[in-house]
Amino acid sequence: MRLLEVGASGGLNLRPHHVGYRLDDTVLGDPDSLLVLDPEWTGRPPTDLGHRLRVVGRAGCDLRPVDVSTEDGRLHLSSFVWADQLERWNRLRDALDLAATDPVKVEQSAGPEWLAKQLTRAERDVLTVVWHSVVWQYVSPADRAMGRAVLADAAAKATPTTPLALLVFEPRRWDAGYRFELLLKLWPAGISLNLGYGEGHGTPFTWNVTPWE
Ligand SMILES: C[S@@+](CC[C@H](N)C(=O)[O-])C[C@H]1O[C@@H](n2cnc3c(N)ncnc32)[C@H](O)[C@@H]1O
Repeated sequence: MRLLEVGASGGLNLRPHHVGYRLDDTVLGDPDSLLVLDPEWTGRPPTDLGHRLRVVGRAGCDLRPVDVSTEDGRLHLSSFVWADQLERWNRLRDALDLAATDPVKVEQSAGPEWLAKQLTRAERDVLTVVWHSVVWQYVSPADRAMGRAVLADAAAKATPTTPLALLVFEPRRWDAGYRFELLLKLWPAGISLNLGYGEGHGTPFTWNVTPWE
């Protein structure tokens, strides 16, 4: 797959194949990674988790990217973690350490323009995954409209050998409040799923696959 992340900030999400994921008594992904997450899942996704992710390309953009190769950038991200959030603090520290071993530059750009450029080429036999987490609420109405149009154009061109996915983790209205939901669309397969819900910082997470209306 090829990962294209909009609103990537410091780009810490761009190494999913280099992360370990602790589940009960096993670690999926890279068990020797500097970043081993405890995702605190309830349930499991309906898929074979034994497959390794093969990432053939990744890129990210942000209106205000954070350069985590600098002390200033690392301090900037650390400043968002409250002093009593020790687990979150440890996750960030490990993610920064992992990033230092595998740098990925996050380009300074608004999402739609950047995405339009990235999506002009499609690689055969590669799933292109456009993703964003906790970004949509900050995007202007104009950028939202343009983002939807760019994605619709790419979706219309997707083929079985050049498929496209949209994967987002964003807050949605639920009951009297809201919750963070993981949503997936796949083209040209025409699949549209709500995969589950969790907390804004990713854990805990409950897998609960239903149609994404
Ligand atoms: C709360 S942060 C989330 C960062 C990261 N996605 C994560 O899950 O940790 C939201 C990010 O979205 C970026 N952003 C907001 N509007 C954007 C836009 N139109 N294009 C690109 N990035 C945008 C902000 O600069 C900020 O870095």
